[in-house]
Amino acid sequence: MSELPPKPASRPDGAGIVQRIRLFRQDMFASQPERLYRAKMAEMRTPFYRSFLVNTPDLVHRVLVQEADNFPKSEVLADTLRALLGDSIFATNGEQWRAQRDIINPAFKGCPRQAFAQMRAAGEDAIARLQGAQQPVEMEFVTSYLAADIIFRTLFSKPLGETRALAVFEAFRAYQKTQPLWNIPALLRLPRWVPRMRSKQARHHAGVIRALLGDLVAERQAEIAAGTAPDDLATSLMTAVDPQTGKGFSPQEMVDQVAIFFLAGHETSASALAWTFYLLATHPDIQDRVAEESRLLSSLPAPGDMSALRFTKHVFHEGLRLYPPVPVFVREAAVETQFRGRRVPKGSMVLVSPWYLQRHENLWENPDAFDPDRWETPNGKARKRDAFIPFSAGKRVCPGAGFGRIEGVLMLAMFLRAFRLEPAGNVPVPVAHLTVRSKDGIYLSLSPRV
Ligand code: HEM
Repeated sequence: MSELPPKPASRPDGAGIVQRIRLFRQDMFASQPERLYRAKMAEMRTPFYRSFLVNTPDLVHRVLVQEADNFPKSEVLADTLRALLGDSIFATNGEQWRAQRDIINPAFKGCPRQAFAQMRAAGEDAIARLQGAQQPVEMEFVTSYLAADIIFRTLFSKPLGETRALAVFEAFRAYQKTQPLWNIPALLRLPRWVPRMRSKQARHHAGVIRALLGDLVAERQAEIAAGTAPDDLATSLMTAVDPQTGKGFSPQEMVDQVAIFFLAGHETSASALAWTFYLLATHPDIQDRVAEESRLLSSLPAPGDMSALRFTKHVFHEGLRLYPPVPVFVREAAVETQFRGRRVPKGSMVLVSPWYLQRHENLWENPDAFDPDRWETPNGKARKRDAFIPFSAGKRVCPGAGFGRIEGVLMLAMFLRAFRLEPAGNVPVPVAHLTVRSKDGIYLSLSPRV
């Protein structure tokens, strides 16, 4: 099959404000005009707020890197996720964020290497579960379970199959179904006392997740005190201290951080893997090249094998380009400024979207095509430097980027060594939930590769 990979329909021309808000609440992509795939920037004015989408490499660089302090994370996302994530690193700003980041950075040094064995074990278990499974399989569930298993093993040195861990995973899935990405009162800048449209169920699921994670954190604290704790990410995080103040996380803060690691560490990778498997299923020639390359993996894959998987790495990058798991980064202008000569009032919302930047018609050749070989071309190499931001950039860049890259490439190679993939069911429609997901699942048939 060589047709273009699925892309959501844009907003119909002439849609009014009410229709736009309704579409926005359904799905961010459906509410945006087609011209964002060509625009350098876009300004949206409503009676309540102004927002600016910046869509050129230089403007994106200004917001994320050069002037990052003038564009802190917006309260919108924090407000949406507070019930679940408390004051976790993902949403904080200023001194509070700096202290959190200084604590987690050392915990991540060398982490991918340590985590490799956990990734491999989770991958082997996933492959064993799929051998003999009823076909077709829903790949978003498969990759969510797999990525949750990987991050859980890396954090707590136990597989997700353990009863309590499984309950956390199930509560996360239920939470995502009930919690919309966008919180309209926050978006409209209404005061904190105005009730947020959080469903009762979302609050309930958030409470279940936090209670379960609280138990795991308390247990680990006891093990650290007794000197019996395993050497894993949870122990690193719980024993690390801020180099400037000498303080570590309190137990409550620890629950916030574990919650964001679990969420950010599996939801993103699961989305990237599910879409990349779909791309491979619909491009058998490319799939065969990945399968061929996967023969370079040792029978028990080792970190040293990774450098040989050059084409598989391009495939993973191309999946991240077409389906960046985090479709938009939401910032706020802390000072009045200008974009392309246009006044940007203080308090405006500033959006950076890897989705639109990485499919921009003026930047990429054949932007909607799945073409992993583009990463070897001069245009691909240049765009990788200035217009490829699936992990963001600057000081808020994803600390799990190295981890996520190794995990993605290793899982692609291990799965393609074991299975041939074929599309089964309807063409999936991308929608922007917490991450880019498919509206009705991604169904594939997996058969043993002999
Ligand atoms: C393919 C995999 C992944 C992708 C595409 C991804 C993407 C991102 C992006 C885009 C951000 C910044 C969002 C923003 O600026 O608004 C981010 C932040 C973050 N990610 Fe990842 N991520 C991935 C994997 C992981 C993993 C495996 C972990 C942990 C093990 C992780 C932990 C975090 C944390 C803690 C933050 C917040 C950092 C801060 O604000 O200082 N991510 N990620």
